Amino acid sequence: MKLSVQGVSGMPDILPDESRRWHRLESAVRAAMQACGYQEIRTPILESEELFVQSVGADTDVVAKEMYRCQAGKDDSQRTYCMRPEGTAAVVRALAQAGLLRGGRPRVWYMGPMFRHERQQAGRQRQFHQFGCEFLNHAAPAADVEVIGLCADIFGRLGIAADVELLVNNLGRPEERRAYRDALREHLAARRGELAPIDQERLARSPLRVLDSKEAESAAAIAAAPRLEKFLTPDSQEYFARVLAGLDALGIAHRVDPLLVRGLDYYNLTVFEWIDPAAAGRQNSLVGGGRYDGLLARISDSDCAGTGMAAGMERILQRLADAEEWTQDVYLGLLDGEYDEARLLRLAAAWRAAGLRVQTHLQKDKIGGFLKLASSSKARYAAFVGARERAAGAIAVKPLRDGSEQFSLAADAAPAEAARQLGEQR
Ligand code: HAM
Repeated sequence: MKLSVQGVSGMPDILPDESRRWHRLESAVRAAMQACGYQEIRTPILESEELFVQSVGADTDVVAKEMYRCQAGKDDSQRTYCMRPEGTAAVVRALAQAGLLRGGRPRVWYMGPMFRHERQQAGRQRQFHQFGCEFLNHAAPAADVEVIGLCADIFGRLGIAADVELLVNNLGRPEERRAYRDALREHLAARRGELAPIDQERLARSPLRVLDSKEAESAAAIAAAPRLEKFLTPDSQEYFARVLAGLDALGIAHRVDPLLVRGLDYYNLTVFEWIDPAAAGRQNSLVGGGRYDGLLARISDSDCAGTGMAAGMERILQRLADAEEWTQDVYLGLLDGEYDEARLLRLAAAWRAAGLRVQTHLQKDKIGGFLKLASSSKARYAAFVGARERAAGAIAVKPLRDGSEQFSLAADAAPAEAARQLGEQR
């Protein structure tokens, strides 16, 4: 078949067969967030462009190169909106707007699509999904540890804890970074010719981001660069030492990576990434996060502390084994001459009311055609009435999962009895 219109490139559909794995991930996230006292927040897809320009930073790739901008109808042409590229700024805006940052320490989580017009590669989409959490108004290292611990909990629930690695770094406070930025710029400018063209461009815009380069050409100049750690005050160093001690206390293995700088401007002190060491190249980051005290001050006349994380759901899903799942209990049909649509609908409704998950075979058919669709239905049992069952006052039940013996239910058995026999091994 040739469609005259295709989906938008970089924005894949999530098809029915894949949605089961999504549900597994979503359930694990929801359970972990609830277990830690986080409440769900849902913010709109569209935000004012200014929100991300001011918070994420005009010079970042996300804002300078990747934002989807749009304008609404004619009468609103003065304002530019954008499809949210990330969740943190939107969550802080929403909480501030609702007055929820005055007192209290909100802990919130979210899940949904984000949009970045990136160059397409495996693991990099233009519409992708994140789950994330934000912990506001708490400036203690233990808050960072809690957020990192939540990721560890989710990886544990998904059975992939052994496949991921945690990298952490201390970005210090803005004034410490300013002094460092000057020293770094001087060093890199002196070796400019050794940098890849993209890093030369980064050097002009934001020298710190050169540290995060994956260009082999730039590696020697970066390895010889001064280290941020030398520019940090004892206070900032003490803060980070407490984060590391907290991770040790929870038994969360980690590696300090002095080159981890993250691509968004709002971070200070702790930053971290959970990576997938098996994923080659750039797209190995599963989760990114860190502390962003000062973000609120970028968009308001007030400020608050904040720390959080967000995970790329597609990238995590790639790690999940495709567990076989049985999403239906029964595939139910009345065959051949027994096909009585009203009876089938009534029976299915009664069984569903008794708690079974029932899919109906809504057509007159022979046993072969019926069983073919039953097998592809993800139901654990095929239940049917043919001429023989009709004569015997029975409903035949054929287990589809393990190929065990066919058995019968009395046709007039109470729905609760059917539910007991067909639902118990769920
Ligand atoms: P981020 O590092 O930009 O951080 O994104 C977090 C995660 O989203 C990445 O680690 C990656 O798994 C996924 N991701 C990003 N871009 C793409 C893409 N184009 N295709 C597929 N997956 C992608 C943030 O967004 C911050 N808001 C995290 C945060 C929350 N910091 C504090 N609180």
